[in-house]
Amino acid sequence: MSAVLENEEILEGGSRENFTQMAGLDTGPVSVESYRSPELYEREREQVFGRAWLYIGRIEELPNPDSYFVKDIEVRKASVLVTRDKQGKISAFHNVCSHRGNLLALQPSGSQSRFTCAYHGWTYRNNGELIGVPDQGRFFDLDKKKLGLKSIATDIWEGFIFINFQPEPEVSLKEFLGSYGEVYAGVPLVNNHQTMVIEAKFNANWKLIADAFAEAYHVPKMHPATLAPGFAHPVKNKFARPLAGLTYGLHRSFSAYGDPEYVSPPDSHVERLACKIDTGSLLGADLSEEVLRLRAHPGVNPTKLPCWSADVTWIFPNFNIDYSPGGYWTHEFWPTSYNTTRWVLTIRMPIATTVRQRLQQEHYAARWGEVVLEDVTNCERIQKGLESGAINVMQLQDGEMLIRHSLHVLDKWMEADTVAEAMK
Ligand code: FES
Ligand SMILES: [Fe+2]
Repeated sequence: MSAVLENEEILEGGSRENFTQMAGLDTGPVSVESYRSPELYEREREQVFGRAWLYIGRIEELPNPDSYFVKDIEVRKASVLVTRDKQGKISAFHNVCSHRGNLLALQPSGSQSRFTCAYHGWTYRNNGELIGVPDQGRFFDLDKKKLGLKSIATDIWEGFIFINFQPEPEVSLKEFLGSYGEVYAGVPLVNNHQTMVIEAKFNANWKLIADAFAEAYHVPKMHPATLAPGFAHPVKNKFARPLAGLTYGLHRSFSAYGDPEYVSPPDSHVERLACKIDTGSLLGADLSEEVLRLRAHPGVNPTKLPCWSADVTWIFPNFNIDYSPGGYWTHEFWPTSYNTTRWVLTIRMPIATTVRQRLQQEHYAARWGEVVLEDVTNCERIQKGLESGAINVMQLQDGEMLIRHSLHVLDKWMEADTVAEAMK
């Protein structure tokens, strides 16, 4: 169950939909225990990150046969090697030598068809097969066929590569994504040509960093000069109320408001230069055919109201994809302990072909830097506040429905003995 607005009048202070109850969630205060408990974190490591499908990278990170990348997944204490073999097949392995456990690939990415361990020289093909053991005759009954790299289940949805640490995943990626995977299938993922990555570590639980991007209620207070002028409205939508709040089984989205009439003020010279004001507005800056197809996709902006700025969507447990009028970006929230997190924001941009476009991109990147600094400012303070024990529950309003849903799903995974049960 879920809800979208049918017109924008409700934003002007009249009656409004209740996204929380429409999504079948209760409305009471919510426990903060999982943000501060080392024991619950240990349980999350197994019950959630040990069983859910986890996003690990895009297919563009493996552009050619023999491309590979390595990523540390701290919450599983794993180093993961993701390869594309000569046939184009993408696979993931534990990046661990079968001899005595040394890490195998030592560079974060590159191109090679085989990997040789730095310790004694055991060599593996990029499909995991062990193909070389120096002085093999001195081993006892060594069966190379059984000593390939330990594989990790891998599957791909819309170019997003997911892995699953269960030796035999209880559900397929398709089942795991469920209706989210269907609704957002086929969205043109524009601007995969180059990326800007912002990565940071925080002394805060991973869900606190995630929560900073899961609602727009904070926009007027936290982003008064950067986002509020275009993504709230002094009369029509003072509190940046969302247009829709939707749940898709384990996953969820909200549609953020944007003022289609917003144009940069006359004294914002750089912004005016950077934004394509001749197309009418900030939100209308990119009108390429691909972008227009993105906006027309039935899953994107389910209200189809013009006052829309982004679908902020979440794939359980720790992956966020944002679809906006100008393209898409992603966030990953990786726990590194119960109260530390590694966060990765990846923004996509086209290769600039004009000076103006280059300027727009610089402005866009700088603006992003400002906005995310505003977003994460509170996180470490909140961690301290929660760890103080002063409060045991938090109060969530309707616009914070995604946080409530995320914790609701998390609770189910923490308790359930099987994934099938957790997904009910
Ligand atoms: S640990 Fe890799 S070859 Fe010995
Ligand atoms: Fe924000």
